Amino acid sequence: MTAVGVIRGTTTDRRAVIPLLRRLRSAEGQADPFTVWDELRALGEVVPAPWGGYFVTGFDLCNQILRGRDWLVPDFAWQERRPDPARWRHPATREMTRTLSRLNPPEHTLARRALGNLFDRGTLDAMRPRIEDHVTRLLDRLELQLRTLGEADFAGTVGDQLPVHTIGQWLAVPAEHYPHILDFTHRQVHAQELIPTSSELAISAQATVEMRAFFTGLLADRRRHLGDDVLSDWIRYWDAHYAGDRAAADRMLYDLTMFITIASLETTATLLTNAVWLVTQDPVRADWLRRHPEHIDDAVDETLRYDPPIHLNTRFAAEDTVLAGVPVPRDTTVHVLYGAANHDPRRNPDPHVFDIRRKGAHLTFGGGVHYCLGSGLARLEARLLLTQLLERFPTLRPVAAPSYASRMVFRRITSLKVTT
Ligand code: HEM
Repeated sequence: MTAVGVIRGTTTDRRAVIPLLRRLRSAEGQADPFTVWDELRALGEVVPAPWGGYFVTGFDLCNQILRGRDWLVPDFAWQERRPDPARWRHPATREMTRTLSRLNPPEHTLARRALGNLFDRGTLDAMRPRIEDHVTRLLDRLELQLRTLGEADFAGTVGDQLPVHTIGQWLAVPAEHYPHILDFTHRQVHAQELIPTSSELAISAQATVEMRAFFTGLLADRRRHLGDDVLSDWIRYWDAHYAGDRAAADRMLYDLTMFITIASLETTATLLTNAVWLVTQDPVRADWLRRHPEHIDDAVDETLRYDPPIHLNTRFAAEDTVLAGVPVPRDTTVHVLYGAANHDPRRNPDPHVFDIRRKGAHLTFGGGVHYCLGSGLARLEARLLLTQLLERFPTLRPVAAPSYASRMVFRRITSLKVTT
């Protein structure tokens, strides 16, 4: 596939994107978001959204918004200024309002500073042997299924499992809880879609109740048995910070633990399954990478560029401004389209070609003060997985293209059937 790459002027028709958004959510659009991104980009750099905001399609403009101090994340104060604040008061939506991704400075700065660089080189080095061990055991399961059934679902058997084993062990959460954590995460995410339906919100509300019960219980239990683990350290830190206000400490601890856990799961799972899909669908490519393991990191980054696990992210204008000639009044939202930006042919020539050696640019982990906290960990999981998988399964290949959940914001591969 080669790029369309024709950049036309900005449309003023707020309904122009509707069919494209519908398509992006459909099975057809999930299987081929690339042409939808091209068509969105062809509508302009700054494309009006039906609900009053804008979609931003070009790499440089998206980058500028993500990094700019005059663009803020839609926080509680912004929600309360909306003409329809009730829309944001749904319990499942509200649950995310205090998480890092919904905080602006100075609250955001305080929380990030307290966390520091969670996954610095030393921490990742220390985590590495355990992740390698998880990879080995999950690939053992894959091998057993391949041997007994002739094919296996990579997404369910390995892709979804490695992130929950990794974060679960890091937080010292017993493995018996992992299926439950995955289950409520897949259901809670509906509330974070652009325009969730009322039935999606209801599913999400139930998942939120379960999620809250789980993490509240986990924290209470850990408080009683403080140990030498990350969660215990956070409890000590936030108890001291909010000395005399246990409720405030508990709120902060819940938001952190819940959000870091769920932020790490579907995103990394999509990266892992995508990497295997994109590398093994072409036996020549898979064989080349097996013989050139020094390019595994490049393959991971090209996967991140080519098919970002999150389709879009939202900021609002802190002041009246002008974006690529389009006046954007204060408080107006803009949706940064990661996929469209990563496939902007002005930044990455022939963007629809998956080229491990391209050293392309991408915005898949966001940018500026909200840059993803777990990017190093996600990359490490993908690297360790590809390394072992290519060694152990030299002829592994997909039986069919992946299946996807119907989503617009968070991409989820529900199945990738493989054989050898
Ligand atoms: C391939 C996997 C992942 C992708 C594609 C991804 C992507 C993103 C994106 C796009 C953002 C928003 C950045 C912005 O607003 O500019 C973000 C934020 C965040 N991510 Fe990730 N992420 C991944 C894995 C992880 C993992 C493994 C963790 C934790 C272990 C994590 C934790 C977070 C947190 C805590 C934030 C909020 C940062 C903030 O607002 O200050 N992510 N991620």
